Amino acid sequence: MFGVVNKPYTLRGNMTDEKLRVVLIGCGRMGQEYAKFYSLLDTTEIVAIAEYNDERRKVVGERFGVRALYKDAAEMYQRLDEIPDLAVVVLPGKFIKDAVIASAQAGVRGVSTDKPIGARLADVDEMIDVCEERNVVFHGGNLQRARADVQEAASWLRRGDFGTVQGATVHAWGGEISGGGCQHIAVLRLLAQAEITEVIAWGKPREALEADEDTGLIINGRFTMSTGIEVPVFGEDTPCRGVDVWTEDSLLRWDWDDVMDIYKGFDGNGVRVKFDRAFTPCAWPQYGYLASSILSFISAVEHGTEMAISGHDLRQSLEAAIAAKYSALWGSISLSLPLEDRSLTLYPRPYRWLGGDHAAF
Ligand SMILES: NC(=O)c1ccc[n+]([C@@H]2O[C@H](COP(=O)([O-])OP(=O)(O)OC[C@H]3O[C@@H](n4cnc5c(N)ncnc54)[C@H](O)[C@@H]3O)[C@@H](O)[C@H]2O)c1
Repeated sequence: MFGVVNKPYTLRGNMTDEKLRVVLIGCGRMGQEYAKFYSLLDTTEIVAIAEYNDERRKVVGERFGVRALYKDAAEMYQRLDEIPDLAVVVLPGKFIKDAVIASAQAGVRGVSTDKPIGARLADVDEMIDVCEERNVVFHGGNLQRARADVQEAASWLRRGDFGTVQGATVHAWGGEISGGGCQHIAVLRLLAQAEITEVIAWGKPREALEADEDTGLIINGRFTMSTGIEVPVFGEDTPCRGVDVWTEDSLLRWDWDDVMDIYKGFDGNGVRVKFDRAFTPCAWPQYGYLASSILSFISAVEHGTEMAISGHDLRQSLEAAIAAKYSALWGSISLSLPLEDRSLTLYPRPYRWLGGDHAAF
């Protein structure tokens, strides 16, 4: 998969010269970032935009040379003559489910979304089920898990270059466990090569724990992984802010910095030694992990390869956040995943749920 992530837009090979037809649903702050990259690739063409805001729809349409402009996904699919290949949903959380399901039902080959994927587990299950039933590739969006260095480090780990994963930690998970916190869980599951099977947590302050949304909620706790390792979860910054995974002699650290730190072996004093193997350079460094994420999505649609981040990954992140919140709220009880009660819900902060036009960033 990593080789694909770094290929500069020759993903369709000799299969066809036709471009993939892309529709963008939501062209606010983040949607325009997606539009920039899709309009740069010579394998994709943005053929339509669905956007609530009249002024923004017009301006962004002009900017990217898109003339087919609609109010929302329902109107777009009713009026488009040809079903697009890819639907790129970049909406506030409240509106994601309807757009994803409308796209899958319309017959697109792939639909992408972003974090957090929703608030209620049953809603997210429904999106994943509808996509699965219709063989629609469901992509997860602009997450650090898609970073080329994170993916390459994970491939080295899977190949056995560092031995078996023996432990992991999560740092600075708090503040927004359903939003920014998605990043940690997605990276943890990738590097630990395991699912979270049990969560126990403590939350503060009490007002944030009792609120419907997670703004300012600090969670400390412990995850048990399907491989049996126990993962301490620190809500606030330690010297680290991300995920550490270690084996007998190595440590791999994703810390939101530009490049992952890897240590292998020890010096004469028993101190870890920096591992000096270079990561493969990215083809599109100026677009960061949005580029590698989108390229892995296109490759999954075209060639059936594994995505760097999927809708399933976003659900697992949300589920861990929900489990942690309710474990803490109900007296730090141990909760098994998958959660039985799919009606459990955790709203993100208002900007993520309703969008920037309706809530302050
Ligand atoms: N992965 C990341 O790093 C990252 C960063 C920022 C935002 N996000 C996520 O991206 C999503 C969008 O964020 P944003 O910053 O672009 O928000 P935004 O408010 O700037 O843009 C959202 C746009 O969607 C439009 N819209 C809302 N409901 C609609 C509907 N039903 N149909 C058509 N258009 C609709 C709004 O008019 C607005 O233009 C959110 O889910 C957010 O959490 C992710």
